[in-house]
Amino acid sequence: MTDPAPRQKKPDACSFVLFGVTGDLAHRLVIPALYNLAATDLLPDNFCVVGVVRNPMSNDDLRDSLMKGLRQFATRKVDDALATRMLECVTCVVADPGQPASFDQFREQLEKLEAERRTSGNRLFYLAVPPSAFAPISRELGRTGMLKENSGAWRRLVIEKPFGTDLASARALNAELLKIAEEQQLYRIDHYLGKETVQNILVLRFANGMFEPIWNRNHIDHVQITVAEKLGVGHRGSFYDVTGALRDMVPNHLFQLLSLVAMEPPARFEANAVRSEKAEVLAAIQTQSETDALKDSVRGQYLGGRIGDDEIGDYRKTEDVRPDSITETYAALKLTIDNWRWAGVPFYLRTGKALGAKRTEVAIKFKRAPFAMFRDTPVDRLSQNYLVISIEPTQGITLQFNTKVPGPTISIDGVEMKFRYKDYFNAEPSTGYETLIYDCMIGDNILFQRADSVEAGWQAVQPFLDAWKKAGASGLESYQAGGHGPTEADTLLTRDGRNWRKLT
Ligand code: BG6
Repeated sequence: MTDPAPRQKKPDACSFVLFGVTGDLAHRLVIPALYNLAATDLLPDNFCVVGVVRNPMSNDDLRDSLMKGLRQFATRKVDDALATRMLECVTCVVADPGQPASFDQFREQLEKLEAERRTSGNRLFYLAVPPSAFAPISRELGRTGMLKENSGAWRRLVIEKPFGTDLASARALNAELLKIAEEQQLYRIDHYLGKETVQNILVLRFANGMFEPIWNRNHIDHVQITVAEKLGVGHRGSFYDVTGALRDMVPNHLFQLLSLVAMEPPARFEANAVRSEKAEVLAAIQTQSETDALKDSVRGQYLGGRIGDDEIGDYRKTEDVRPDSITETYAALKLTIDNWRWAGVPFYLRTGKALGAKRTEVAIKFKRAPFAMFRDTPVDRLSQNYLVISIEPTQGITLQFNTKVPGPTISIDGVEMKFRYKDYFNAEPSTGYETLIYDCMIGDNILFQRADSVEAGWQAVQPFLDAWKKAGASGLESYQAGGHGPTEADTLLTRDGRNWRKLT
C-alpha cells in the first residue's frame, strides 16, 4: 500500500465568502471539504469563512448549524478541537442582492474582517446558491467592486452547476459574468472533476505509453458512459421537474467524462492547454438534426418499484412534481465525434434515477480480434476486450481479455484484470470538493470549466432538448424503478449490433 503524496503548498491567505451558507450544499459538501483540508493542514494560515445570509443570524447559531452538518456529513472522524477551531473563523454577514445597499455594507464588513484576519485582500466568493441567484449576486459583487483585483490581491468567483438551462441561457450567463470578471477569475465547478478516478483518466491516457497508440477508431469499437443512480428524486422535485435527467447530468458530468476520454493530448499539463483540448472535442460532437436527435435518443420516466429493500413511488407522485409531468428521469444518447480520431466510433451515454444499481463508469470496447485462427477449434466465440474505468461504487480500472481455459482442449473465456484504488492507496475518503476548493485557493483552474466548453456542451445537447420539447409526451418511455431503464434504450445499441454492459 502506498500513502498518497502529500500536497505541500499551503494556499495564500484569503477569505472564503460562502453564499448559501445555510443551505444543503454548504453543510453537506463545502464545510466537510474545508474540514478535510484543515485536517491535512492545507488551509491558509490566515483564513476566514464569511457566511453570507439574507436574514440576520448570530455567529453562534451559524457555527452550531455547520457543526451539526459536519458531524452528519464528514467523511472522516471529526476531531472536536479542530472542528471548533475551524468554525471559529466563520462569521455571519447579511447581504441580499434584492437590496443593493446591503452589499455596500457587506463590502465594508468584509474589508474590516480582512484587516482583522490579515487575509491580504484575497477573496474566494463561492456561490452555493440556486442558479437563479448566480447573476444577481455576481452583478452586486461587480457593482460594489468586490471582484476587482487590485494591489496584488486576487479575487475569484466559484459558480456551481447548473450553468444555464440551455445554450442561450448559458451564453447569457457567461456574457454577464465576463462583464464583471476576467475568465481566469471564474471557477465553474463540476464536482465530477473532483473525483480521483475522473482525474486519473488523463493520467491513464497520457502517462502510459501503451494506451494512446490504440486509443482511436482503428482499435476502439465504441465507448459507453454510464451514470446510473439508485436514488429517486427525493425532496428535489421542484428543481428536478423543470430540469430533467439530460440537463442535470449530460452537458456537465457525462461530458466531463466524455471529453477526458476523447480529447487530444494537450501539449502541456496546464489549465489553458487542457481546457482548450476539452472544449475542442466537445465542439466536434456532431450536431444532430431534430429527426436524428429523436432517432438517437431515448428518454424515460420511472414508475414505482422496489430498489433493494426500499419501495419507491412513481416519479409523478413525488413531492413538488407535476402529476402530468413529462420530465425524463432517464436519458440515453448516441453521439458521434466528428474528428480524425473518432470518426465512426459511437459514444453511447446513459444516465438515470431509480435504477437497480449505482454505477458510474466509462467502458471502452475494443474491436474483436480476427477469428480465423480458431476456425477449426471448438471455440465458437471470442469476447471483445473492454477497458472499464470505474468511478462508482468502486474506484478503479478493469481490463477484460480472453484467456485459455486450462485443459487439454482449446477453449477460451473472458477474464478480468482489476486495479482498485483502495488496494494500492491509503487515502481518506473525501467529499470530492477538497481538490476543487484547494485549486481555487491556489489559482489553478485546470479542473474547472471554461466558458467555451460549457457552451460547446449545451450546443451538443440542444437538438435533443428541442426535439424532446416538440415531441412532448410522445416518445417518453416508462421504466420500473429498480430495473435497468427503458427497454427502448437497449434498442439504441442492439440496432447497431451492440449491447449495454449489464447494470446489475
Ligand atoms: C448532481 C445532480 O450534480 O450530481 C444530481 O444534480 C446527481 O441529480 C448527482 O444525483 C450525482 O453525483 P454523484 O457524485 O453521486 O455521481
